[in-house]
Amino acid sequence: MEIKEKFPGIFLIDGKLAVKNQISGWRPFGEQLIKVGSTEYRFWDPNRSKLAAAIMKGLKVVPIKEGDKILYLGIAHGFTASFISSIIGKNGIIYGVEFAPRVFNELLPVTEKAKNIVPILGDARKPETYSWVETCDVVYVDIAQPDLTEVAIRNCKAFLKRGGYLLLAIKTQSIDVTAPAKRIIDCEVEKLRAEGFEILDVRSLEPFEERHGFVVARM
Ligand SMILES: C[S@@+](CC[C@H](N)C(=O)[O-])C[C@H]1O[C@@H](n2cnc3c(N)ncnc32)[C@H](O)[C@@H]1O
Repeated sequence: MEIKEKFPGIFLIDGKLAVKNQISGWRPFGEQLIKVGSTEYRFWDPNRSKLAAAIMKGLKVVPIKEGDKILYLGIAHGFTASFISSIIGKNGIIYGVEFAPRVFNELLPVTEKAKNIVPILGDARKPETYSWVETCDVVYVDIAQPDLTEVAIRNCKAFLKRGGYLLLAIKTQSIDVTAPAKRIIDCEVEKLRAEGFEILDVRSLEPFEERHGFVVARM
C-alpha cells in the first residue's frame, strides 16, 4: 500500500483521497475507514465533495492547515466540513453557516462529534447577523446561488484576514443555464480580480461535478 501526504493533513492512499480520522471509528456519512499501524484514515469521496474533486483535478494550492479558523458558507450536512475538521484539528475552528433548517438539523450530529465546528443557522447574504464570528484564515463558499461571488466577497471583507484565502465553488447552472460553463467561471474570476483578489488556481470539477468550477484566491 502506498501512502503519500499530498497536502498537510491530506493523503493519497493507493491513489484515493483520505484524512486521518480524529475520532476512532467515526464514519458520519458511511465512509470507508482503513487502519495502517496505529493510524486510522477516513476516505474522502470526490464525487461528494467539491474540495476533494478539486484536489483530484490537480489543485496546486490547498491553503487549509492545522489550527486554521474557517468561515464555511453553505456547510449543508457537513460532508466536506467533516474532512476540513480533521485537517485543522482540535486547535482549529469552522464557523459553518447554513440557511435550510432541515439540512441544518442533519449537520448537528456531525458538529456534536467533531467538536471544532460551530453550526450557525443563518443566511450568508446577511453577514451582519453573525458579526460575532472572529477574523478567519480561510473563507470557504459553496452556496450554489446566482450571486455566490458577491456573497463571497462581502463575507471576505467582513471576516477574512489580510492575506487570507477564499475557496469558492462555482455552480454555473445557478448563475446561467445557457452560457458555456467556462465563460461563467471566467466572469466570476474577473469579479474577484476586480476586488483585488489574487487568483491562485482555477479548476473545472468535471467529471466529478458537471459545469462546476473551483477557485482558490488570496485577499
Ligand atoms: C451544494 S450545497 C453544499 C454542500 C457542502 N458544501 C458540502 O460539500 O458538504 C449548498 C448549500 O448551501 C446552502 N445555502 C444556499 N444559499 C445559502 C445562503 N444564502 N446562506 C446559507 N446557506 C445557503 C443550501 O441550503 C445548501 O445546503
